[in-house]
Amino acid sequence: MIKVTIDGRQLEAQPDELLVDLIERSGVSVPHVCYHPQLGPVQTCDTCMIEVNGRLVRSCATAVADGIQVMTKSAKASAAQVEAFDRILSNHLLYCTVCDNNNGNCVVHNTTKLLAIEHQTIPFRPKPYEVDTTNPFYRYDPSQCILCGRCVEACQNVEVNETLSINWEDPNPRVLWDGGSTIGESSCVSCGHCVTVCPCNALMEKSMLGHAGFLTAIRKSALEGMIDVVKGVEPETGYGAILQVSEAEHAMREHRIRRTKTVCTYCGVGCSFDVWTKDRYILKIAPEHGPTNGISTCVKGKFGWGHINSEDRLTSPLIREGDKFRKATWDEALTLVAQKLSELKASNGPDSLAFIASSKCTNEEAYLMQKLARAVIGTHNVDNCSRYCQAPATTGLFRTVGYGGDSGSFTDIEQADLVIIIGSNTAESHPVLATRVKSSHKLNGQKLIVSDIREHEMARRADLFIHPKPGTDIVWLCAVSRYLLDHELANSKFLDQWVNGLEAYRKSLEPFTMEAASRITGLPEETMRAVAQMIVDAKKVCILWAMGITQHSHGSDASTAISNLLLVTGNYMRPGTGAYPLRGHNNVQGAGDHGAAPNTLTGYQSVDDPEVQKRFEAAWKVKLPSTKGLDNHQMVDAIYQGKLKAMYLIGEEMSIVDSNANYVGDAFAKLDFFVVQDIFFSETCRFADVVLPGAPSLEKEGTFTSTERRIQRLYQVLEPLEGCRPDWKIIQDVANHLGANWDYQHPSEVMDEIASLTPLMAGVSYARLEGYKCLQWPVAPDGSDQPLLYTKDFPFPDGKARLFPLSWMGVTDAPNAEFDLHLNNGRLLEHFHEGNLTYRSEGIREKVPDVFVEVSPELAEERSIQSGTWVQLISRYGQVRVRALVTDRVKGRELYMPMNSVESPVNRLTSSHADAVTNTPAYKEASVRMTVLPDVGASPLPRVNSRFGHPTPQQGVEVERKWKRPDYHPPGNGLVQLQTKSL
Ligand code: SF4
Ligand code: SF4
Ligand code: SF4
Ligand code: FES
Repeated sequence: MIKVTIDGRQLEAQPDELLVDLIERSGVSVPHVCYHPQLGPVQTCDTCMIEVNGRLVRSCATAVADGIQVMTKSAKASAAQVEAFDRILSNHLLYCTVCDNNNGNCVVHNTTKLLAIEHQTIPFRPKPYEVDTTNPFYRYDPSQCILCGRCVEACQNVEVNETLSINWEDPNPRVLWDGGSTIGESSCVSCGHCVTVCPCNALMEKSMLGHAGFLTAIRKSALEGMIDVVKGVEPETGYGAILQVSEAEHAMREHRIRRTKTVCTYCGVGCSFDVWTKDRYILKIAPEHGPTNGISTCVKGKFGWGHINSEDRLTSPLIREGDKFRKATWDEALTLVAQKLSELKASNGPDSLAFIASSKCTNEEAYLMQKLARAVIGTHNVDNCSRYCQAPATTGLFRTVGYGGDSGSFTDIEQADLVIIIGSNTAESHPVLATRVKSSHKLNGQKLIVSDIREHEMARRADLFIHPKPGTDIVWLCAVSRYLLDHELANSKFLDQWVNGLEAYRKSLEPFTMEAASRITGLPEETMRAVAQMIVDAKKVCILWAMGITQHSHGSDASTAISNLLLVTGNYMRPGTGAYPLRGHNNVQGAGDHGAAPNTLTGYQSVDDPEVQKRFEAAWKVKLPSTKGLDNHQMVDAIYQGKLKAMYLIGEEMSIVDSNANYVGDAFAKLDFFVVQDIFFSETCRFADVVLPGAPSLEKEGTFTSTERRIQRLYQVLEPLEGCRPDWKIIQDVANHLGANWDYQHPSEVMDEIASLTPLMAGVSYARLEGYKCLQWPVAPDGSDQPLLYTKDFPFPDGKARLFPLSWMGVTDAPNAEFDLHLNNGRLLEHFHEGNLTYRSEGIREKVPDVFVEVSPELAEERSIQSGTWVQLISRYGQVRVRALVTDRVKGRELYMPMNSVESPVNRLTSSHADAVTNTPAYKEASVRMTVLPDVGASPLPRVNSRFGHPTPQQGVEVERKWKRPDYHPPGNGLVQLQTKSL
């Protein structure tokens, strides 16, 4: 520790701690406008001047040093602070009482008060630019912009979308999008980082405007009149009196604006944030304290909440009558569900019923769903959509290292020397995680290898982008492992100490010579050698993968190959290393963790383990079957075989997100009884006999588990819409109508039960998850968790990991003369999955109104296709009509179709081939032929989509350019010792 004296008081500081942080920590207030702890020193505002050993310095950019004397309120420091802030006020009109940002956290307001500013000496000067309202979610008011550059820093170096800059050399600097575009036509991805960190009202969510304040909804002309009044009295009253009025208005807001913590409902990154609401109206999403995301969000988490108050929410149970549905009371619907399920169980046995839990619902709801199946009905026929994506990754990890979860946290990925991304469009599917990789790559010299068949953003940023033939990643992974072993480049010390099975594994690698791998993958041998060398050169390697690996007929083996490679190179058991299968849905990790699977109870305890079975039987007071149930792929086949008669499915659009959608839909039509629980009348509801209206994440309590194994609480932001019920209550209602007699009053009681039955979650409780607290499993009874999964050993009897022998089986559904094009598919940044939630946000629809198929420029030229040409894609299983988007993101005869369509879902084209081990559909192994239709429409992506923008990468806000302006001089009569960001 270092000793520092602040205003005469001696304090201890951490080496490298910034003075501004130490001063704050000591309880002393020093102004700082541009500094934000999650952005670091931006150094544009100069308001944080303090005296250190007699010299003025910026406290945000100066690290502590032993024995220094700091004065925060000396005459010199105070004068410099006031002078700096006076310049800021010349860029900002203080009209707080009628400002939607008057919420107690406006930095300009608070600094005016802190410095007791009564009058400004430099008059306010509006900037000669219009307000930009061209983005659907936020607007920029240049005349209120204090040029602090926080937004630029956030966009350039945290989000790393590199859209924003400030034209410091201009007579009237302002924030620029793509160097001078409108926001709407820029590369802005609407992630909201800039809006979140803006210290005043220059950047604001449109949802706040006219809604947050008591006086802010008034007409613009009246508003301007009121601003004139405020400015008119200022010379006489000073700002002190004016601020008092605005603070009274702010105090009134406190009574009607609620701020409630929640966890994002979309992807598995697990961003958490406060939701600001006024009655049912969502004012804004405010990220700040999330352990995973801090200030970060993507467009969906920040702005994609239109589904909550959508007019087409289901608000009443529905019962089928012929081809139509009629509204029913809850009691009628629940009675019918219980009666039909009981009848079918009695006549066909419990295994004629099946249950699908939702990976969008909470852990507690997943647990209750599998308890309903097992304890009330008596079947292990329960699954969730991790079958469609993550089951192979879990298998690969179980085989090799023992736990089916990410080896570490995003902080480990951030600190890796080398990140390898395979089959993951991370920037669009896991956007906030991608920001951490982009930032480490841009700022800290992290190396990046991307393997994909599509040149997405991460591929474009990569140091090495490889494009193997579709489905052949497993081959190059095995070949690289073999090469490392053959050339004594493997980590033999780690292998000796921590890994079993080397010989059998080496033998299985015999066919994977570089020459054979090159022939199968199409990658040059030197490229694979370069990959191997980059791995050897890096001390810490993380491998990230997703559906491009798992959704193949050998998805489990390819996931295993990744883990094998990490073991061969010793990239486990240390910070900055490990395996990271990126979980897709917000709670797909949690649904599996909490037993919504046909072979495992909570915490991956086997259903056929007698000790486990006994424990659950004792707790649930029932007899449980000991043979595993059907997974959701097998359930569909069992319907065709006449073995499965009834299903109860929650929150899954299974009829279009399962592969070979026509086959699945036809199966549902054959069911004797089908219950679907959702918040909208989904496509799957069309096959239902009873539809039950559930509640979205903002209307219930519970926990989600993110891809980092991070368990986080979500709090109820809004009452359930009238007529709807939280899903955990509905499951309990169904169970009780079946005679179960459950009495859970709150999801915390469900979690207590889970913890009592599950060694992996033994120490989990709502008290330990309060607010923004979180736990990363495994959680010991004393509440200690494991952000880094493997520290002491691997969870096998001898504590050693296992190399798993592999072979290459080829791909299914490969292109041939009839179906000559390979069809890839996946997510888009703006829409989640099929878009049932995100299409209900108007701004997202504006950015991406429809689905499309990406066609390479080569193929477009060959077939006379342009963006907007309608084409018919025909596979062995179905066909869809869709518009083409010509782009060099895809190459040659490889197509890409995002999933964001209910009308033309890509899964009408995919097959029923599946991973041999987990039955995960081989979505990524599809081939089609394409008929070019005569109609040509507009481009399916409008000009306002960010993909048409032109980013302007630079090193943050580049404050040095401001300092070079002829009219700039540091405040405090030039006594400032200028600091740079490299401390
Ligand atoms: S991408 Fe757009 S919303 Fe995100 S930080 Fe940059 S300018 Fe702001
Ligand atoms: S728009 Fe950017 S530069 Fe302007 S005040 Fe807001 S964060 Fe600062
Ligand atoms: S969708 Fe994912 S990355 Fe985006 S805000 Fe939600 S959790 Fe974060
Ligand atoms: S806080 Fe702005 S320069 Fe230090």
